[in-house]
Amino acid sequence: MITFLLNQTLKRETNISPNMTVLNYLRTELHKTGTKEGCGSGDCGACTVVLGELVDGKLQYRSVNSCLTFVSSLHGKQLITVEDLKNKQSLHPVQQALVDFHGSQCGYCTPGFIMSMFALSKNKPSADKEDVMESLAGNLCRCTGYRPIVDAALSLSSDQPLLDQFAELEQQTTAKLEKIESKTAPLVLGNLTSFSPTTTDELAELYERHPKAKLVAGGTDLALEVTQFHREIETLINVTGVADMKTIRETEQDIVIGANMPLSDCYATLAKYYPDFGHLLHRFASLQVRNQGTIGGNVANASPIGDTPPLLIALNARLKLRKGQQVREVQIDEYFINYKVTVQQESEFIEQIIIPKPDDLENNNDQQFFSAYKLSKRIDDDISAVCGAFNFTIENDVVVDARVAFGGMAATPKRADLCEKALIGKAWDKATVEAAMVKLAEDFEPLSDFRASKEYRSKTACNMLLRFFLEQQTKVMSQQNSNNFKQHSIETRVTSYV
Ligand SMILES: Cc1cc2nc3c(=O)[nH]c(=O)nc-3n(C[C@H](O)[C@H](O)[C@H](O)COP(=O)(O)OP(=O)(O)OC[C@H]3O[C@@H](n4cnc5c(N)ncnc54)[C@H](O)[C@@H]3O)c2cc1C
Ligand code: FES
Ligand code: FES
Repeated sequence: MITFLLNQTLKRETNISPNMTVLNYLRTELHKTGTKEGCGSGDCGACTVVLGELVDGKLQYRSVNSCLTFVSSLHGKQLITVEDLKNKQSLHPVQQALVDFHGSQCGYCTPGFIMSMFALSKNKPSADKEDVMESLAGNLCRCTGYRPIVDAALSLSSDQPLLDQFAELEQQTTAKLEKIESKTAPLVLGNLTSFSPTTTDELAELYERHPKAKLVAGGTDLALEVTQFHREIETLINVTGVADMKTIRETEQDIVIGANMPLSDCYATLAKYYPDFGHLLHRFASLQVRNQGTIGGNVANASPIGDTPPLLIALNARLKLRKGQQVREVQIDEYFINYKVTVQQESEFIEQIIIPKPDDLENNNDQQFFSAYKLSKRIDDDISAVCGAFNFTIENDVVVDARVAFGGMAATPKRADLCEKALIGKAWDKATVEAAMVKLAEDFEPLSDFRASKEYRSKTACNMLLRFFLEQQTKVMSQQNSNNFKQHSIETRVTSYV
């Protein structure tokens, strides 16, 4: 059973297919056809809806793609669709702005844009152009063009929160959501079942009892099996309600991230220690996908072109895996075995991702450098052709340690072993880098596909290493010149794209 608020109305559903997406539920069950289907795969944003959720007792709104969201994810949340924005006879300020700025022609994309703008107006009332671009990057418009839409969104920017009907009803909404029990019975229809555990213990026990079940977190990979490949998933275990896997905390040495953390929520902590990780997350899919997709899902999906694995490998991250009561830790570079094959056993799942903090180099002459580069055909909402990550320790111009990892270069995200060997213990200069580039080309036999040819992949991976070297040198020189040379700092740079 799922219980949620459809705007302000409490809904209980028992007789819905657990494989149904929120988009299909809205359109075919509720006959609310304002929410549109464009691609059915998270790429166009036409199906954007907003989910209200209590986070630490406070109501938080997020835009998500309803075409990728299974109905079971609605449990305990408020679902707001484009039909809910009009207040009596008045358009919502976001809708009015789009009218005033002529931001709609055929109108097919418009409900999706409206919902992204609505979420932005709730989360960042004083949004600037960058915020607007970020929030709309997952919405495609084929006929109006983006300028009037961006202008409409910017016109709403204000230093005051938006006082609309949702703000007026906030206390009431919070009280209604608080009343929904987080524990709920499974959603069952025919041979299809979806469980919604609320603790890690419960999840571990359920997964042992149903080893063939599929775990679903954000669903931004898994839902495609249903929407694109028309497969039926008999047993789903929806992990989004497992609160103890939706945390991020720091120890003296590590950043410990629960596998369920949406990528949007990983940003602040990762960007603080590793700014390039933050830049990469900005380039990861779209805001709707990042609001939903989790870091655990990205790792467990084991795609050779997943964006976080190369960075996690370079940073020497570990995974805490759990099966029943048994817990083990594995180095992330040992997790991926072959194409989409991992060391995870039946009924085992990722509980945490543990990332070492930058080395404390206070008492020696080492410098740690971390950079990451994502190559894709466009800056937003595009999967990598190649993603490279470099984590080096340099002492007195000698490479003391080098971890080099790539996605898009092999069947799994993978370290460049020969390249690393050609670097460690050598002078950190151009001759070493050029020799390591030769080895790097030997490390991988990439494939050609529609994203990039094998020759392009190989060449650009080598050039990323050269770029890392040149940028790091420039940075160090400029630090020396400004007499502001910090011997124990982490140097990072903006993730690039072509
Ligand atoms: C439009 C679009 C753009 C995208 N762009 C990018 C991109 O730029 N970069 C990128 O890397 N990816 C991208 N993706 C892929 C996807 O968004 C990410 O891989 C995301 O992190 C998956 O997380 P999720 O929570 O949605 O996983 P889900 O879809 O819920 O699950 C993915 C897999 O992981 C398993 N799983 C989930 N949680 C666990 C767990 N705790 N333990 C064990 N197994 C688990 C599931 O069973 C499933 O097999 C994109 C997807 C879409 C639709
Ligand atoms: S229909 Fe295109 S993103 Fe959902
Ligand atoms: S108005 Fe036609 S697709 Fe945007």
